[in-house]
Amino acid sequence: KERIGVLTSGGDAPGMNAAIRAVVRSCVYYGITPFGIAQGYEGLINNDIFQMDAGSVKHIIHQGGTILKSARSLEFKTEEGMQKAWKNVQEHGLDGLVVIGGDGTFKGAMEFGEKFSFPIIGIPGTIDNDIYGTDFTVGFDTAVNTVVEAVDKIRDTATSHNRLFFIEVMGRDAGFIAMYSGIGAGAEEVLIPEKDRDVERLYESLEQTSQRKKSSRLVIVAEGDKNGSVYDLEREVKQRFGDRYETKVTILGHVQRGGRPSCTDRVLASRLGVTSVEALRDGKGGFMVGVRNRKIRFTDFDNATKRNPEMDQELMRVADIISI
Ligand code: F6P
Repeated sequence: KERIGVLTSGGDAPGMNAAIRAVVRSCVYYGITPFGIAQGYEGLINNDIFQMDAGSVKHIIHQGGTILKSARSLEFKTEEGMQKAWKNVQEHGLDGLVVIGGDGTFKGAMEFGEKFSFPIIGIPGTIDNDIYGTDFTVGFDTAVNTVVEAVDKIRDTATSHNRLFFIEVMGRDAGFIAMYSGIGAGAEEVLIPEKDRDVERLYESLEQTSQRKKSSRLVIVAEGDKNGSVYDLEREVKQRFGDRYETKVTILGHVQRGGRPSCTDRVLASRLGVTSVEALRDGKGGFMVGVRNRKIRFTDFDNATKRNPEMDQELMRVADIISI
């Protein structure tokens, strides 16, 4: 390989910069010319492709966001968009690509790679942790630590006023952020899309403890939970319990996507960045690189995107036991 491109696509995640840095530096190490592509697949389509060197990634390992910028490209899903992108790939003589993102990014990579027989390696970068084939995605650790810090603060005020809080955290289709932060912050309940009966459990326990006068209750709700929004839940609790609970709602929102990446995310991103370039050098393509049980593992794009990672049963059990 002589010329490798790198892009970040989909929702940004803390640690993406560390991954870009590792990709660029590995290229330089192996005598490959690295190219940055701006705004994900949009940059491929619009020919926003530029040469990088070891210096272009200095002092970014500690920064959140992505210096390459990111986008969710609709045009890349069209035949015309793909053809434009392919023309630009050829024009720059790229012979491999590293894409950093989530399942949408990998679906695009799979289609493009197969269509033009072009080698692409994916790095899982999303705060949601909803990718099969890796224990953790880049950005998840930072995001859950951001959530726990915020929820600890809510606990202080909730306790002072004996209030019940519904706290919405991100995770469109997955409850990993909710489950980890719920356990870490000692939430009384966690509502996630992977679990069916959790809302009834919540009402049952509110029924029992309204007499006990618990000083505060925190219910962490994943954005993708099937029981409706945090406002719907609050309304339902008001209807069922009247003034037995004083309720409040907090939506943490995009604060979860920013901030300095944790050391864990930086190390993960660095390992995956180096491996992605080495995989392309070895002639691999069509795979995502991840870490399972501390070892580097490759998963083909099809499996990484199709197989929804199961929410860990053991985690659910732990959350249930310690939240009584
Ligand atoms: O996939 C990451 C994520 O933060 C999800 O948790 C959330 O549902 C979504 O992105 C929000 O996307 P956007 O920033 O485009 O509103």
